[in-house]
Amino acid sequence: MRKQIYTAPMSTTDEIDKLSGEDWMAAKAYTDPDIFKLEMEQIFRRAWIFIGHDSQVPNAGDFIRTRMGVDEILLVRQLDGSLRVLANNCTHRGTRLCAIAGGNTKSFVCPYHAWGFALDGVLTAVPDIGSYPGTFDIKDRSLHLTSAARVGSYRGFVFASKVAAGPSLSDFLGRMTEAIDNLIDRAPDGKIEIEGGHFSVRYPGNWKLHHENANDTVHPGYVHESSVTSARKTEGGVTRQDELVDRGQTKGMMASNGLTSKDWNAIELNGFPQGHSFMGGFYKSGLLAPQQSDPVTETYREALENTHGKEKTAKILGMDRFNNLVWPNLNVNAQFHQIRVVHPIAVNETIIEGYCFRLKGAPDEIFHRAVRFLGTLVSPASMIFSDDLEIFGRVQVGLESGSLERLDNRRGVATDQKTGDGLQSTTSSELPLRTQAKAWRKWMDSKV
Ligand code: FES
Ligand SMILES: [Fe+2]
Repeated sequence: MRKQIYTAPMSTTDEIDKLSGEDWMAAKAYTDPDIFKLEMEQIFRRAWIFIGHDSQVPNAGDFIRTRMGVDEILLVRQLDGSLRVLANNCTHRGTRLCAIAGGNTKSFVCPYHAWGFALDGVLTAVPDIGSYPGTFDIKDRSLHLTSAARVGSYRGFVFASKVAAGPSLSDFLGRMTEAIDNLIDRAPDGKIEIEGGHFSVRYPGNWKLHHENANDTVHPGYVHESSVTSARKTEGGVTRQDELVDRGQTKGMMASNGLTSKDWNAIELNGFPQGHSFMGGFYKSGLLAPQQSDPVTETYREALENTHGKEKTAKILGMDRFNNLVWPNLNVNAQFHQIRVVHPIAVNETIIEGYCFRLKGAPDEIFHRAVRFLGTLVSPASMIFSDDLEIFGRVQVGLESGSLERLDNRRGVATDQKTGDGLQSTTSSELPLRTQAKAWRKWMDSKV
């Protein structure tokens, strides 16, 4: 897409080996702006990056403005129903083309000199074109908005790569498709739609810190101690009106991080060669838990059983994997009908977005429960996520001080077990971190 402006020499295996090993990452990989630029080139330009969901652009002319690494892009539904990922920069003088978050349009018109681009990025209108020399050809492809070389979708989850070569989307996703399948299976009508707005939080730290933390099973007992303690303090107290509406879901979530280390150790962790990982469930209670028996859940379960039958419904609702991390920028939480998206902004700045799905055919209340869960877990006012964001900032400050050369990822390395093409651990292992570091090395190596 955008012309490559970074001119640093391409990486070599030797150089990458100095930045990361089997069980460590160099601090520089989190603090050096040149390494960040290389990550944008090697990973966020070449790998399959999550862009959005089909339901955000259902009709011809629908578009959203989002990011692919540091570059702003437009995801646009074409007249023939296909999707394109276009650079959001005018080819005249580089102006940011579209400033709104999304909408429906017949074309994109630059706010500066009104060059007009069709939905597929082709330049179709140039005011006062007669004053250009004969060498100016409106049909010249270099004047079209640049378009991602590959756009692929897995059941409505849209990914893009700016290069034509590389693994297929299906090879890239591997077993992570199971999480997407499970999310869709939870909809009685077999359809899901992103609905409402989304939460967006910005933290002063490197983008890798988010995925590295998400499946870390040691930090919750310490980092989230204050919310666990607050939730426990209210046990047996006076029930307030907001708790009646919430039916204890928020309190339950806040308390869920308070497992004993023995319990955390029993949570299964899985890592895959593509860099992906997921953990077993630990939010065992609350309004979206499968064992709920309130009228809304019963109506929902009945609708699912009409579609799938009793046995399959129990399996679908019973899949409690938490944080299905699709490396490098997506987190699917099927059980709670939501996703998180990671947008690197700078070496020490990252935006996380949280979106919620409506399950078609499920009662309204199920959607509201998921929104409430998202608000408690990922919103800027979350009493849980704000703890993590604070830690990311502290890690970044620590690493930037230069006091540490390497980050240690050795926890649990001796007990990881091979399973199929991946690794599994039932101790509090740093397996997900090693998995991510391995994928990072692979993509950062120019020869791959
Ligand atoms: S910069 Fe876009 S038309 Fe001139
Ligand atoms: Fe956390």
